[in-house]
Parts: sequence; structure tokens; C-alpha cells
Amino acid sequence: MNEILHQLRCIGCGARIAGAEARPDFRCVVCGELFDVEYPGWSQRGGKDRPNPGGLKWVLRERRSSSDPLDHSGVWRYRELLPILDNFGNVVSLHEGNTPLYHLTRTAKTLKIDRLFVKHQGMNPTGSFKDTGMTAAMSVAKEWGYECVACASTGNTSAAMAAYAARAGLKSLVLIPEGKIAWGKLSQAMDYGAVTCQLKSDFDGCLHLLSQIVKEAPIYLLNSVNPYRIEGQKTPAFEIAEAFDWSVPDHLIVPGGNLGNSSALGKGFREMLELGLVTRMPHISVIQAVGANPLVRSFREHQATVMEPVMAHTRATAIRIGNPASWRKAARAIQETGGWCLDVTEAEIAIAKAEIGAEGLGCEPASAVTLAGLKKLRAEGKVSSSDTVVLMLTGHTLKDADYTIDFHRGKLLGIEEIAGREAEIAGLRRDALAIDATPAAVLAALKGRAG
Ligand code: F0G
Repeated sequence: MNEILHQLRCIGCGARIAGAEARPDFRCVVCGELFDVEYPGWSQRGGKDRPNPGGLKWVLRERRSSSDPLDHSGVWRYRELLPILDNFGNVVSLHEGNTPLYHLTRTAKTLKIDRLFVKHQGMNPTGSFKDTGMTAAMSVAKEWGYECVACASTGNTSAAMAAYAARAGLKSLVLIPEGKIAWGKLSQAMDYGAVTCQLKSDFDGCLHLLSQIVKEAPIYLLNSVNPYRIEGQKTPAFEIAEAFDWSVPDHLIVPGGNLGNSSALGKGFREMLELGLVTRMPHISVIQAVGANPLVRSFREHQATVMEPVMAHTRATAIRIGNPASWRKAARAIQETGGWCLDVTEAEIAIAKAEIGAEGLGCEPASAVTLAGLKKLRAEGKVSSSDTVVLMLTGHTLKDADYTIDFHRGKLLGIEEIAGREAEIAGLRRDALAIDATPAAVLAALKGRAG
């Protein structure tokens, strides 16, 4: 681990420690808060360790035609901006990142926004944004010589961790809430060889338990409380800025669960601004499900000074989290960028997901909160028609096929949940038809659909 270039800074009391001094649960000994990775050499303008923006942009362009495997990773391509390793030979990579930025044309038209994009993090190797953070923290685990890694998860972290651990040749332990994660994700953890334990608990309980376990055994914790995860997860901010030729969109809209992702993207844009790679930050807004909205409540009731845990309920199981670990970091990203924090209903999530699907993209339910949130921000006048908007789609549609099938079969939502939106939902549903095996029946089905 590169102890010369980086240190950890507590976001609560400001204490600074070396990476090697971090406790196994990554909480500050003094105040119990989390750490950020900090690069002291960046603060001295003209210092030899501070990346030069012009030089870096040139290097990044050159790397597009490089044959070095490190340059094929959308995370390690930016290695000067996350100098956390001593030896890049320790990198564990699955060619993560470099995810597509798609124009959401039909929805843009409906919402009367000229420039609406989705950054599809579901196109990562294990199908979610977690891969960008996992390559970073797993490489640190390897450099440090750990033999076993672990995470609590609503599914995607476990899929990513299991895959990267398998590539690194490390043993992995997954703690998940029994019956509360999508089968696609559970199957990945099993397939990649993790020891997968389903606990009679929720995500928050799993993370709490794991934080105790890592204090008793030499196991490296790979949840987003691990600050090196955040270093990898900040890189999509770099990709977005690069895609817009180092200008930044006006709005970035992110789903909120344990709140590591919004924190990471905030850090990415903040660091680019500090280094002079960009001249401003986008408004970063975080969207939660109504039934799992502790950050929304914290903003509403306490101006984000305290956060009271909630019992979380939502069909978007990825963000079924009531006590998010990184809430302070996420609140900072929202506040410093003038973004918003709001919640959306189960029906709004399902409708938004079907709309993203109908554009040929698709995503997980948790990702669709971003579009549902954008509709509200647009209706409230917080996003104008001339703004450039990027929605972070965090997971692939195949992660939770049951949700999609239930929606199209009309089995997902209860009558009360869809009250007043029946026609809108009916217009989006596309159940598979059971018909006779004759040309006439097939053509009649096609005609019926067209009508
Ligand atoms: N979207 C998806 C698809 C997720 O899997 C998660 C989190 C989020 C959004 C929320 O991101 O936690 O950084 O605010 N999934 C975690 C997991 C908790 O265990 O896979 P966050």
C-alpha cells in the first residue's frame, strides 16, 4: 500500500492516520466515524506529487490506444488519481469501468430535457457499479497479503467481491439477509465460490455482525466503509467528465442505499475541481425509496445533522437499507453541490424501470429511482429543459428478473399502490403471450400489440 502518497482522514474529528493503522472495521478510534483517503501531496500547487491537469488529460488520451492491461481498466486508467498501491502488479482487474453513456431519447422528449443521459454501470463485468470499487479494495487486500475477504450485502457487493476474490485467489465470505436479495445476485456469489451465509437479519444487521467478526479474525472487510472501495467508485466521475470533454453535466442523480456511491462520486468531482481538471461540480442528488429513506428524513427533519435509522422496506432490494454507513459523506456531496435528496414510491420506481427498459437499456429496480427522482425534480422546476442530466444506472436488468417479470404480468404492485396510475402502468406492461402455434395467431398478436 502506498503510504507515502496517501493517508486516511476521519470525516468526523479530522484525525489523520496511515492506511496501516486503520481498525478492521474502518471506524475512527477517537469518534467512531469513517475515513476518507487523502493525498497530502495534492494540496501543494506545483508539488511533484500533484497531478498536472494538462499532462494528465494528454496521458489519458494516449492510454486509449495502449496495450497495457492496466489501461484497459476504466479504474486503473486513472491511476494517478488513486495512488493507493505500492505495486500495480497487485491490481486485480476484470476490465471494469469504461461503461457506456447512453442518450435517453424518448424519456428526454417526454420530460422536455434536451440532454438526458444514463451512465450504465450495470455494464460492468459482474453487472453492477460495485466492480469499480472492488478492483481498488481487492488490490489493496492482495498487496497487504490477506487470505480472506468478506462483505455484508444486498447482493451486488457480494457478486463483485466473490468474483474479484476468485481472480485474486482469496477466500471470500458473504453475509446476506435471508430471502431478501435477488436470485441473480445470489447465484453469482455461489458461482464465483464465496462462502455464502444467509442470515435471519437485514442488511444493517449483517454489516453490524461482520464488523464484529473482522475484529476477531484476519478478514479484510470489503464493504464501502472501506475507504479504498470509494477510491475505485469515484472513477465513473472521471469517465463522465472525460466523456463531456472535461466539462461536467449540470445534474448527476444517484440512487441511495448504504450511500457509498453518492459519496464516491462527490469525492471524484471534488478532487477533479481541486486539481483543476474541471471548473465546477454537478448538482448531486440522491434518491431513496419511500420505505428506505433515512437520508431523506435526515434532510427533512434535521438538515442532515443527525440520521435516525429506519426499518427498511422496498422491492428495490439493493437499496433496502435503514442505517446507511456513509450518510455523512453523501450528505456532504449533496450540500456542497446544491443537490437534493428525495424519495420515490414503489409505483414510481416500477414505472421508471419499465420506461428505461422500453428504451432498450433496462436496469435494476434500485437504479430506476434515478429517473423517478428526475421526474420530481423536473416537475418542481429544479431541473430545467436546457440542463444536461446524467442518471447513474447502478445495476443490470438481469440481476432481478423476477421483479421485471412480476411487473409485466401485473403481479408486482398492490391495487392501492397503483391507484390513479392504472392506465400508465397498463401502457407499459408487456406480458409474454400464450398463443396457438399458427401464423394467424402470431400475426394477430403482433397486430394487437401494434394497436
Ligand atoms: N443500486 C444498486 C444496484 C445497488 O446494488 C446498491 C447497493 C445501490 C444502488 C446503492 O448504492 O449503497 O452505495 O448507496 N448495493 C449494496 C450491496 C448495498 O450490498 O450490493 P450505495
